[in-house]
Amino acid sequence: MTITSPSRQRADLHRPRFHLTPEATWMNDPNGLVVIDGTWHAFFQNNPHGSTWGNMSWGHAISDDLATWTRLPVALPCSETELIFSGSIVHDAENTSGLGAPGADGPLVAFYTSAYTPSHPTTPGIQAQSVAFSQDRGASWTFYENNPVLTRDSENFRDPKVFFHPESQRWVMVTVEALDHCVHLHTSVDLLTWEPASTFTHPALDGGIWECPDLVRVQVPGDESAAAREAWVLVLSTNPGGPAGGSGTYTLVGEFDGRRFTSDAAPQPLDLGPDCYAAVSFSGVDGDPVLLGWMNNWAYAEQTPTAPWRSAMTLPRTLHLEPGADGALDVVQHLIIPEGIPTLDLEMPSAPAELATVDAGQPFRLRGVLSTEVPSRVVLRFRSELGTRQLVLEVDEDGGVVLDRGDASLDSFAAEHPRSVPYRPQAARSEVAFDLVVDRSCVDLELDGGRALVSQQIFPGAETVTVLVEAAS
Ligand code: FRU
Repeated sequence: MTITSPSRQRADLHRPRFHLTPEATWMNDPNGLVVIDGTWHAFFQNNPHGSTWGNMSWGHAISDDLATWTRLPVALPCSETELIFSGSIVHDAENTSGLGAPGADGPLVAFYTSAYTPSHPTTPGIQAQSVAFSQDRGASWTFYENNPVLTRDSENFRDPKVFFHPESQRWVMVTVEALDHCVHLHTSVDLLTWEPASTFTHPALDGGIWECPDLVRVQVPGDESAAAREAWVLVLSTNPGGPAGGSGTYTLVGEFDGRRFTSDAAPQPLDLGPDCYAAVSFSGVDGDPVLLGWMNNWAYAEQTPTAPWRSAMTLPRTLHLEPGADGALDVVQHLIIPEGIPTLDLEMPSAPAELATVDAGQPFRLRGVLSTEVPSRVVLRFRSELGTRQLVLEVDEDGGVVLDRGDASLDSFAAEHPRSVPYRPQAARSEVAFDLVVDRSCVDLELDGGRALVSQQIFPGAETVTVLVEAAS
């Protein structure tokens, strides 16, 4: 018989099934996302010794299907003098770094930020980019002996994302000077020696510090007026200054020539909810980028009611571009939804109605269409012996679609961040399709065929949930 403490039972009321969570510790940003030999690796910022931020190291989990995850031991542990901050992994198939075993397939090379602690003998407080490598497909890791590989003697230079640019035959590293609102690009032929290539800033993103940049290549489908082409998307997180308050992630569509990223586009939120930060893409994916975000917000991340484990990742999402109004390109994303989740296809009634009751302890999915002309609400009423709570998907007076979690948690939670940013279709439209996944404390919503995604945490701790359609109040 297993005896579980009451606090543990309560905590696991909230644990999702298909969203990656740490076993019993703290997690923040996804790191080193890479798919190799059909296995998806998610490393992540982890405190191996606690439920709040600290002792930053890289945790590790793997998945065959991006739905169920197997946790592995900590991959890159911190030391007295060095915290292991966020970064990325590439497969160095040609062994350009020379870090591979002789005669073997090329190594995995991890880039992370060395955040040197006050007790570091020579560079206390400095953040610089360092390397670790694996000759066994990520099972074990060795720190490179000549770290760091790139320093600017700065205290806020971090979050290296590395990719290969075949046209220039160079590796590219994207980093931030967090306080300066500046992305730095460096290039390399061997992953170990880096030369400055360019910098990028954008005046519209001035609400907070910049973190966790990524630069992804996206194919743009052609239509009658334009041939197919490609564009680049800079994905960037800001804290605060996020779309829904607190921390959040933006995209900027532009061009990249191997050295310089340029954009005259306006930033678009990656997510209209409060809980998607530090989102970055998997390396090793052919085709449209696949991203994972941290499903939390620095405004309240350490207060989520789930200790000893704390934080989840969002569901993965693919990122696409579609020609929009005025020749601009719109970011469109699709949730990668685990197969087999019980799905309710809602026929929206013309009068208020109770549509279904399902088990709230299991993941479920709701699909339907909201009228933007008749203000209405889909209410998910969560019930348990501890109380009744509700999550509301509604159309506001201006025809904007909003997800409101203001009353969706047992205890007061994130009171200042109850609602997502309203989604308003660009072209006047009388209906907006929704696809909503609820996996206990993790809610992912895709609106209007992917023109908006919303990530929200809720903590209703419920046994059942009743789905109602109500007239707007
Ligand atoms: C973003 C971030 C990164 C940093 C890491 C430290 O959430 O602040 O900039 O590398 O978290 O845990």
